[in-house]
Amino acid sequence: MPSLTTVLVFLALALATWVAYDVLQKKHAILHNFPIVGHFRYWLEAIGPELRQYIVTNNDEERPFTRDQRRWVYASSKQENNYFGFGTDNDLEASPNYLIIRHSAFPLNEPQPGEPGHDPLHPIACEKVLGEHRRRAKAFRPASVVNLSAMSFGSLSAAAVEALNRGALLAGCLHNTGEGAVSPHHQHGGDLVWQIGTACFGCRDERGRFDFKRFSDVVAANPVRAIEIKLSQGAKPGHGGVLPAAKITSEISAIRGVPMGRDCISPASHAEFHDVDSLLDFVEQLAEASGLPVGVKSAVGQMDFWEELTRRMAADDRGVDFVTIDGGEGGTGAAPLAFSDHVALPFKIGFGSVYRLFRESGLQDKVVFIGSGKLGFPESALLAMGMGCDMINVAREAMLSIGCIQAQRCHTGHCPTGVATQNRWLMRGLDPTHKANRFANYVVTLRKDLLELSRACGVEHPSQVTLDHFDIVDECFNARPARVVFGGPDA
Ligand SMILES: Cc1cc2nc3c(=O)[nH]c(=O)nc-3n(C[C@H](O)[C@H](O)[C@H](O)COP(=O)(O)O)c2cc1C
Repeated sequence: MPSLTTVLVFLALALATWVAYDVLQKKHAILHNFPIVGHFRYWLEAIGPELRQYIVTNNDEERPFTRDQRRWVYASSKQENNYFGFGTDNDLEASPNYLIIRHSAFPLNEPQPGEPGHDPLHPIACEKVLGEHRRRAKAFRPASVVNLSAMSFGSLSAAAVEALNRGALLAGCLHNTGEGAVSPHHQHGGDLVWQIGTACFGCRDERGRFDFKRFSDVVAANPVRAIEIKLSQGAKPGHGGVLPAAKITSEISAIRGVPMGRDCISPASHAEFHDVDSLLDFVEQLAEASGLPVGVKSAVGQMDFWEELTRRMAADDRGVDFVTIDGGEGGTGAAPLAFSDHVALPFKIGFGSVYRLFRESGLQDKVVFIGSGKLGFPESALLAMGMGCDMINVAREAMLSIGCIQAQRCHTGHCPTGVATQNRWLMRGLDPTHKANRFANYVVTLRKDLLELSRACGVEHPSQVTLDHFDIVDECFNARPARVVFGGPDA
């Protein structure tokens, strides 16, 4: 019979081994960061559906992303079975604004191995060449219609940015830097879209003004394929930002070109332009200096901006190569609640209004349209493309694919999975190489499902899907054609 001391020593050793195993393993950030206790998350997650089904929420209630949506991303990124059994648990006839895709009686078959068009990466190239219409020297056809949306190093950890960049290389998609400048963590092979925000991080002089020399140096030293001027993002349009002095590490100071020891202010608007005319001048200057396609990212608020932009672009020879429209439902690292909840139109309404103006001005084929705002799922991505998007950007869905659990603590610096934090301990749990595969798997699966839905509609490319392929069903047994609801592009 072992003595009590022996039993206690044995238990202590077992616990120590368990802690060591959790800390040293590289698959699960949460177990590395919270050894032993982290397992509760998996146990609770395992019985969560049952608990919630009877006591709390259903599969489609949680926000921003429902459990079904998160499960689909998690399973896709792990290349696990992402099917759902037994049929839909949605109430198709009692849900307002319910999306229905109208399939063809003669769907197309998927190309099998050995047949033309078969590719396990399911690449879907953009139908348009970015920068072609304005004859930019470095115009190119994006290889993927699904790309990574803007998220800065600073709001995301170094490990997360590295994982996403490596994943972008594997999946053959573009990686938008976000407004926090190009960092060494963006230099793992993935092609970049460099976003320039109001503070011009990474291309500013000592006074914080745009610096063409620095801009050209960064473009020359990195695989930058396009420039995105950020006017606003859906979660906080018209709102600047502050990076507190305490968060400005020497690395962030060097990368962003801001001094240490002082709060770094991102103003609400750009100093380099103040109206559509000066914006277009700035666009042409950047394109001239770099040879790259240049576009704007914006949420949709007052329409006079878009009216003037399309009027001027139709009338003179200046113009943007692409427009990224972010929905008010978009995500952020941190924003005031009122801005997230109430400023800017949701994606479908905002994009529909802007696209209509471009179409009425005859510009729709001359500009590449990109959408973002919870579009990282096959049916929403397909609808966005039916509305006129040429490509879609994903941000939080990409975070989910590399381990985010929707803890919604990005603004605190205490992200438990090491994705949206600068805490060294927490981010050490995120293995960039391992998570790169997860992100790539997610993008590839999304493209695969987009293609499957397109073929179900009888077409080969999602850009051939039109609003005629959708109905919107309401709770009064009405099915309205999406073309009537959104007033979208002609078939
Ligand atoms: C952590 C985080 C950081 C972000 N940083 C930026 C940024 O630097 N610039 C920007 O334009 N948008 C930024 N966004 C917004 C996203 O790029 C995207 O437009 C928005 O989240 C909608 O896409 P989603 O629904 O796929 O997340 C950020 C979003 C998140 C979640």
